[in-house]
Amino acid sequence: MATTPKTYHVKSYGCQMNVYDGERMGELMAQQGLTATDAESADLVVLNTCHIREKATEKVYSEIGRLRKDGRAPMVAVAGCVAQAEGEEIVRRAKVDVVVGPQAYHNLPALIAKAVTGQAALDTDMPVDSKFGALPGRRKVAPSAFLTVQEGCDKFCTYCVVPYTRGAEVSRPFAAIVDEAKALVDAGAKEITLLGQNVNAWTDADGRGLDALIRALDRIEGLARIRYTTSHPNDMTQGLIDAHADVEKLMPYLHLPVQAGNDRVLKAMNRSHNRDSYLRILDRVRTVRPDIALSGDFIVGFPGETDAEFEDTLSLVEEVGYAHCFSFKYSPRPGTPAAAMTGDFIAAEVADERLQRLQAALNRHQLAFNQATVGKRCPVLIERKGRRPGQMVGKSPWLQSVHLITDAQVGDLIEVEIESAGPNSLGGIQILQAAA
Ligand code: SAH
Ligand code: SF4
Ligand code: F3S
Repeated sequence: MATTPKTYHVKSYGCQMNVYDGERMGELMAQQGLTATDAESADLVVLNTCHIREKATEKVYSEIGRLRKDGRAPMVAVAGCVAQAEGEEIVRRAKVDVVVGPQAYHNLPALIAKAVTGQAALDTDMPVDSKFGALPGRRKVAPSAFLTVQEGCDKFCTYCVVPYTRGAEVSRPFAAIVDEAKALVDAGAKEITLLGQNVNAWTDADGRGLDALIRALDRIEGLARIRYTTSHPNDMTQGLIDAHADVEKLMPYLHLPVQAGNDRVLKAMNRSHNRDSYLRILDRVRTVRPDIALSGDFIVGFPGETDAEFEDTLSLVEEVGYAHCFSFKYSPRPGTPAAAMTGDFIAAEVADERLQRLQAALNRHQLAFNQATVGKRCPVLIERKGRRPGQMVGKSPWLQSVHLITDAQVGDLIEVEIESAGPNSLGGIQILQAAA
């Protein structure tokens, strides 16, 4: 029989929604009277896992091993997408106390109570009535906060586990989202990033889209910035594009993953957009918001991808001129259609070389984008202290990190002139505005 945990630690491994879930689990543990502490001394360690690529999954098992090693025996709860995908397999493979999926974590207190009696407790249900209503309110948050508005995915790209780990597309109700946004602002948020696996698929019973939600958030006093991620090209409505033209708080940044630049590969991935339709969406966005920073995700070495097809990805990168990107080597995931295309798997050395070439191109564009901001003035939201004395770090409207010496505090929004640019960040000086 274990004892009831008094302290907890949540470790998140995945995407922004995974981080958001981790924050909410932490709030739930605090509400139960547990105190936050580090992983080394916590009575309960929640591993909030990610299943997207093989490496992400492997980390969980090595972490469980580490936690159990030095004679310490904290209660271990595996949460997140690996919990959903592997379920009981985790209990068989490793000694863990609780396994809880991303749609069931509001049940953590009951699962922990069961684990205290010595039984492994498992909950990977995907209830229709949402977990959100069962979670405690938001308390203290960072100046830039996440807010999940939509979960799940109906797109079934052939390489991807998300439709299986997160379930079908579900949108949270309009009023619940606006209430949470207000609570976040009351708790200190200046910027809110609306999250969804396909955030721009958000809709409600009245047929409203994400643009309506953004316009509602625009009216919240004290909120300075709105962002959203991740979008799918097929859900990029004109209404949402128009919001980029006239909603002042909506930041000029769009993360719109494309994955590949070749139509045959896109079709094999079941992306349901092609190169041209994707590029036309970007044109429409740039028409209303010429300074928008574009970002994307790429996969190299998808089964059957030829050298010539990979070249199409490189040429797309040159054509778009991204400000920032994520790129990955294809990783076969159990249960997905692409994982069955074993005869077409690309040799690891070939995929490695493609990834290096792609990343070199993306880094070059990122540096060029950063350099193009030198000399501009823009508001910067201060998010944390820098390494040097007096230095603070904040974000530009285009999501670049800006380092500067200032008396401004975390949460302040200040005017900055950008003076220098590197591959990953900018340097600037504060423009002190004369008092009115
Ligand atoms: N819903 C989002 C995010 C999905 S996961 C979207 O559709 O864009 C984030 C990124 O991980 C994907 O965009 C893709 O680039 C990458 N990814 C997903 N599955 C993968 C796999 N099996 N191997 C390699 N990268 C993968
Ligand atoms: Fe995965 Fe595709 Fe859905 Fe994105 S759109 S979560 S890549 S299945
Ligand atoms: Fe990973 Fe699940 Fe997010 S698989 S990327 S934590 S939706």
